[in-house]
Formats: sequence, C-alpha cells, structure tokens
Amino acid sequence: MKALVLTGGSGVRLRPFTYSTPKQLIPLANKPVLEHVVTHLRELGVTEICLLTGDWADAISAVMGDGSRLGVSLTYLRQDQPLGLAHAVQTARPFLGDDDFLMYLGDNILADAAGRVAEIVAEFRERRPAAGLVVQKVADPRAYGVAEVDTDGSVLRLVEKPPQPRTDLAVVGLYYFTAAIHEATDAITPSARGELEITDAVQWLIGRGSEVVARRYSGFWKDVGQAVDVLQCNRWLLGELTTDVRGEVDPVSELCGQVVIEPGARVVRSRIEGPAIIGEGTLIEDSWIGPGTSIGRDCVVRDTYLLDSVVLQGASIRTPRRLHGSLVGRFATVGPGEQGDPGHRLMIGDHARIEMTVA
Ligand code: G1P
Repeated sequence: MKALVLTGGSGVRLRPFTYSTPKQLIPLANKPVLEHVVTHLRELGVTEICLLTGDWADAISAVMGDGSRLGVSLTYLRQDQPLGLAHAVQTARPFLGDDDFLMYLGDNILADAAGRVAEIVAEFRERRPAAGLVVQKVADPRAYGVAEVDTDGSVLRLVEKPPQPRTDLAVVGLYYFTAAIHEATDAITPSARGELEITDAVQWLIGRGSEVVARRYSGFWKDVGQAVDVLQCNRWLLGELTTDVRGEVDPVSELCGQVVIEPGARVVRSRIEGPAIIGEGTLIEDSWIGPGTSIGRDCVVRDTYLLDSVVLQGASIRTPRRLHGSLVGRFATVGPGEQGDPGHRLMIGDHARIEMTVA
C-alpha cells in the first residue's frame, strides 16, 4: 500500500507565519507537522509516500528530503493549482498506479497513542472496501465532510460542508482507497466552489453501489488551521514525549514533568515544568518555562515567564510579563524598550496579532 500526502492550501488563517512557511512545516513539539504525518504513516506500515506539493514545493523538499531520515521513501509531485482533493488524486495517478493507498491531509494531526487508527487501517487493508473513511463526532460539523453511516458501518451519504448537517460525524483527513477511486474522480464535475471534491468522488462510489465504510475514531484529531490549533496540537504532542535531557542544565535549575532538552541547549538558573521541549542550541536563563511550551533551535529566552506557547527557531524573548498561549515566529524579538520609553514599541509583520493585558 502507498500513501499520498497533500501539502497544498494557502494557510490564510495562519498568517503571518504562512507568509514565510507553509502550515505543514510549522513545528509542533519541535517537529514540522509533516514529519508527524509521515512518521504516523510509517507506523501504519506505509513507506512509499508521495508528497503532493503546491507553491511551497522547494521549502517542503528542503525540509523533508528523500525521507530516509524518517525511514520512508518520499516522491514529490506538483499540483499546480489547488483544484480540490479529487484533483489531487488525479494528479498523483502516475505515482499511485492501480495500488491501494492512504490519502492523508498534510495539515491533520492524529495522535493515535491507543492505536485505534492503526486498527482501522489494518481492517481496511484486509477487507479492501472501495473507500474507507475515518469519522469523528464533532461539535460543529459544518466545516467538514459529513457522513451518514448505517449501523453496520457502511456509508449511506456523504456531503461536503453542509450548512445543515444531518449527522455530527466529520470525515477525518485520512482516507483509504482502492483503484476504484480513479474512475470516480474522473466521473465527477467541480463543486460550487470550483473544486473536484473527494467527498463527491466517494459519494459517486456509493451511488454506484460500491462498498464504502466508515470507522469511528475518538482519539486526538485536529487540522492545523489557526494559531489556537497549533497550540492545542503542540500541547497534545508534548504530552506524548518522554523525558530526555541531552543539553546542559546547571545545578540550580530545576526540571519537572516530561522535559526534553535537545543537544547543545543550556538551561541556567531556570525552572522548566513539562511537558516542554527546548531546542538545540537554545539558551534559557533566569526564566520559568511552563507546561505546553516548545522552544525551537537557537533561541534566547531570558528573565521570562512563558507557558503554553510555541517559539520558532532563532527567536529571542526577554520579558518579565507573563506570556502564555503565544506563537512567536522565526528570528522574532520580544523584549524591553529603551529606558524611559513612554510606551510600547511594536515592529510587527502584516496580519500579526498582539494581545496586551490592560493593567
Ligand atoms: C477537507 C475535506 C473535508 C474533511 C476535512 C478534514 O476539508 O474536504 O471533507 O472533513 O478536510 O480535515 P478542508 O480542510 O480542505 O476544508
């Protein structure tokens, strides 16, 4: 079985970060979203993986390489225009051939510590329905593909982002397909938003009487669309780390809970409460780093109280005010102004967001 990972999408809701990086490369627990996806696929037993890229092809291949670092083989194909998930399948046909495959949306995080997804995928591989879906009960299904599922698990109907959903079962961004899907993607026409929807292709299979099944998954799942999703996924993935201290921690510093200190990082006169990760070459000095925090490589954090945040490579932070729920971009600086400065000074990029506490 092969896998197709989709890495397109403009990431509008994650600006300004997505001006300089695709959302699939945003780090969660100091690893890009795509690395979590590819590692999950390897755990599911798939090593022949195609990354279908859009505008960010070069950035993605520079980070992911040929896959050998992660124990997989990566092939890159280009989807020149974002014309929908079914169009993505058509574009990847030279890679897929007639093989069964998993399609994984490259901004989806499925933290499957309990192995339920692995069980579902194993069942699909054994049974080989034309299409196998993973579904999850959500509070507001209107942003998703929504499935109507019979008591035996067969899918009766599938609708993309219905204004009035008939069930609360959202389609998760991991799909199983046999070669039957190719006939379906060729048969459908673009939706109202001008895209060839995978939902319509699967509905076409249902209409033709092909077997389409859905299995429920209630573990962690999120598509990384906005900053709050980044923080939530980060928190969750940090919770799955085991303590590993390879950097230097001075004798007066304290670490508690699950803490990863990567090689070359230094912790000086500080307290780190996990789950947290401190990246390679980063300095933490006179600071308190709290749960849910990932600090990337080569950062400097001094005199700071920081929790539940993601700090990207090369950033520098120095502030006595408590920072929480924050996303700090690459090489960004947060720090004190000149002595006697009568107010805050901001040099922030387009679409950035600052929330200040009112004293
Ligand atoms: C896509 C699919 C949708 C699915 C969702 C899962 O939506 O079209 O059916 O439920 O992914 O993340 P998108 O995120 O592209 O709007």
